[in-house]
Amino acid sequence: MATNKKNPTLITTVGTMAATAAVAEYQDHYQKTLYDSDYFWDQTARQELRWYSLFHRVQDCDLHAGRIAWFLGGKLNVTDNCIDRHLPERANQVAILWEGDTPDQIRKITYLELHQEVSRLANVLKSYEIKKGDRVAIYMPMVPEAAFAMLACARIGAVHSVVFAGFSAESLRDRICDAKCTAVITADEAIRGGKTIPLKRITDEAIMACPLVKTIFIVKRTGNKIPFYPERNVWLDEEMKKQMPYCPAEVMDSEDPLFLLYTSGSTGKPKGVTHTTAGYLLYTKLTHRLVFDHQEGDIFGCMADIGWITGHSYIIYGPLANGATTFMFEGIPIHPHPGRYWEMVERHKMTQIYTSPTAIRTIARESIDYVKKYDRSTLRVLGTVGEPINEEAWKWYYEVVGEKRCDIVDTWWQTETGGIMITPLPKIHSKMLKPGWASYPFFGIRPVVLNEKGEELNSKSGSEKVEGLLAIKNCWPGMARTIYGDHQRFYNSYLAAYPGYYLTGDGCRLDEEGRYRITGRVDDVINVSGHRLGTAEVENALSTHPACAESAVVGYPHEIKGQATLAYVVLKEGYESNGDLLGELRNEARHHIGAFATIDKILIAKALPKTRSGKIMRRVLRKIASAEYHDLGDLSTLADPSVVEQLIHQHKIL
Ligand code: WTA
Repeated sequence: MATNKKNPTLITTVGTMAATAAVAEYQDHYQKTLYDSDYFWDQTARQELRWYSLFHRVQDCDLHAGRIAWFLGGKLNVTDNCIDRHLPERANQVAILWEGDTPDQIRKITYLELHQEVSRLANVLKSYEIKKGDRVAIYMPMVPEAAFAMLACARIGAVHSVVFAGFSAESLRDRICDAKCTAVITADEAIRGGKTIPLKRITDEAIMACPLVKTIFIVKRTGNKIPFYPERNVWLDEEMKKQMPYCPAEVMDSEDPLFLLYTSGSTGKPKGVTHTTAGYLLYTKLTHRLVFDHQEGDIFGCMADIGWITGHSYIIYGPLANGATTFMFEGIPIHPHPGRYWEMVERHKMTQIYTSPTAIRTIARESIDYVKKYDRSTLRVLGTVGEPINEEAWKWYYEVVGEKRCDIVDTWWQTETGGIMITPLPKIHSKMLKPGWASYPFFGIRPVVLNEKGEELNSKSGSEKVEGLLAIKNCWPGMARTIYGDHQRFYNSYLAAYPGYYLTGDGCRLDEEGRYRITGRVDDVINVSGHRLGTAEVENALSTHPACAESAVVGYPHEIKGQATLAYVVLKEGYESNGDLLGELRNEARHHIGAFATIDKILIAKALPKTRSGKIMRRVLRKIASAEYHDLGDLSTLADPSVVEQLIHQHKIL
């Protein structure tokens, strides 16, 4: 459409509108970003990114065909945009502000130092023959070296795959093998909440089954003694000292992969969600700046772990692309005391804080004095992400932490979306905030609510509540391109069910004013404390126990964690339920997946409710687990209805 072309100020205005625009102006801009999306993204990409050579085509996307490509033919490097570009003005500005597990450990890394450290690490990787396109696993504590490692990969065009340090050896192994990683960057140990995690030992166990791994680079975190095998183990700090503090940035194509990040889906096998260079960088940069109202001098406090997408997009890539000072936190919110976040806010004069509903609920349980004691007057924006936030937690965040003065941004997005998709915008929507509602789509994003038949529902279709499946009707630069090594699975998981739409896997509601409320997953994924967990993964873990004949795992509401896990287990003949066995079963998920996956409740069942064709009726199991006994829906296809009564009886006394 021609209208936008008459309005060359669109992009510049969007860039600064957070400070000035009224709601109507936002609406107007939002509509423009949709109806001439190519123009919007073309202008934004030219303005926001530094290109070695400019793209020749804005996008080539077709959701029906599963084809997604942005800024075709463009050449750039992510670290050139996140580091080099800022050096003339920001060499001595702190890029990464780090606080360790205990408050006495603080490190400040300037942009110049970041440039040098990343270069050194990149040179180390090169000296071990790691090159563009190779996959490198990163299994690290939250220390600045983890950021250096990610950026060093990006510097030379290697593809990083960060694995959260809470994952077990088995999970790490599966991810290393699936991505065919040739190197792992890890640490001797991690420290979190006063506990140590033997990362190197776990890595050794994991790589026994990964013959492609040639080198393990080790960062010294605790300095405790660890197994060291000189043939393929390398101390990273020693190697970095030998290297030059300059490494040329590899020239990357817009669509070269930047990283893989494994996430859970409805089957047992995690998916290597793949993000590419230009689109991802642009989208995280723009969302970071506008959603958090980033301004010069801000100290941006994202409390996530780099093992999850939030850490990638809003500790590393988005903030650094904006030349921000980004905060990195090794610890947990209640260690050594429940006021830790606010103590850090005061100490560093943080301007934004970005955390999860689980963390908010955990802190809100404690005395309010832990918050009030610290000066929070520098805070302007309070963000939440990862799971639906309940009204009570939202209000506590707004009233107690933000003293009704700060904007709350309840940001909905996913590993697959790369960046924030639905959120209020600070200043613009301040007067329209609604607790528990992620609210409005970001620029260039067109969400829709679908019913099971794939028909679009909209808020003007009557006074009935609009509720259904959340889908996105268009492409955006930050979206994942594929699942590593399995594009068909990508297509089947997100694009096949309703052709022409990206299906999110979340349910949602839409109100009359166009706000979205995310109600939670509608597939076999559970969201425990904001961590995605596939029920099939937990069932696979249980099936390795000799006593387990069959199991079905479901989520149920939990006061702090949002959701918790209940496993219905049928025992093999000859096994009897007792405390030891229950403990062992519960530990299977912890052992095979990681500590965060511990099963909360186990119910030993005589049988599982199945249809006559033998399919487990999970819907019924979910209802029982949530104690919604009177709302079980249609049970007419059930092979043996007495199974359900028995389970209800057992659940009531669990
Ligand atoms: C959930 C995290 C409600 C949702 C960035 C989604 C949310 C999954 C919100 C993605 C929110 C994330 N309100 N639910 N503000 N943000 N979710 O891939 O179920 O770790 O599908 O990405 O978290 O989790 P992931």
